[in-house]
Amino acid sequence: MITVSTIAELRAARQCLPDPVGLVPTMGFLHEGHLSLVRAARDECAGVVVSIFVNPTQFGPKEDLSIYPHDLPRDLRLLEAEGVDLVWIPTVEVMYPPGYQTWVDVMDVTKPLEGAMRPGHFRGVATVVAKLFNAVQPQKAYFGQKDAQQAVVIQRMVQDMNFPLEVVVCPIRRDADGLALSSRNVYLNPAERQAATVLSRSLLAVQTAYQSGERNASALRKIIAAMIEAEPLAHLQYVSCAAPDTLQEIEGVITGRALLSMAVYVGATRLIDNLVLGE
Ligand code: PAF
Repeated sequence: MITVSTIAELRAARQCLPDPVGLVPTMGFLHEGHLSLVRAARDECAGVVVSIFVNPTQFGPKEDLSIYPHDLPRDLRLLEAEGVDLVWIPTVEVMYPPGYQTWVDVMDVTKPLEGAMRPGHFRGVATVVAKLFNAVQPQKAYFGQKDAQQAVVIQRMVQDMNFPLEVVVCPIRRDADGLALSSRNVYLNPAERQAATVLSRSLLAVQTAYQSGERNASALRKIIAAMIEAEPLAHLQYVSCAAPDTLQEIEGVITGRALLSMAVYVGATRLIDNLVLGE
């Protein structure tokens, strides 16, 4: 496994990899969710590149950039064990050198949900992912369904900007108690960790209601809201029932697929989770 930092090193190492190349963009502090993306890339591609970069431009001024968890030696051990060919660990100066002033703004699909709560977040994500794509030139790129809106934004960008690659979205990975894997789970104390299972439990309740014939979007949103509000350590930031491709909120009856998603504070930790109905 080769580890590089600069764009020149990355390009030289990339040229030696057999095509197709799969890219797994990460911010490090890897967990089983990331490793499931790496395994999908390993299964489907001849060359596998993983990037590790905590992208400052996708964090808001009040967000946790300075305390974002990291453990590079552990990440590298895990990636080596998965048979990754190339790890790119750029510095902030490599990605955003002095004088940097170019941004990628995806429009409508960045407005609701996470975009409404985290202004500028998707501009940072789209910009850094476009830069990763340009540098690595993968044939496939792997993202997790856990960040459902991010996956939609990147698919939109790839289509609109004619990036010659396929975006692969892999299923959410969960702990045994249902909590979706996230680097932020380490911030939860034991009581909060227990309370945090309310997110997946509320999605399960929605799925059960849907399977019993409930098709009213507002009724499904209410199931989630009521369960989160009943958990003393949890505070609901938003709940949504939207069209999975446009992210437009569904009013009234669900006719096709629907993306149920939420953001919840458990203590001071902000968690997100989602479920697609009608698949
Ligand atoms: O999902 C993430 O970890 C990040 O948003 C990504 C895609 C690596 C861009 O910084």
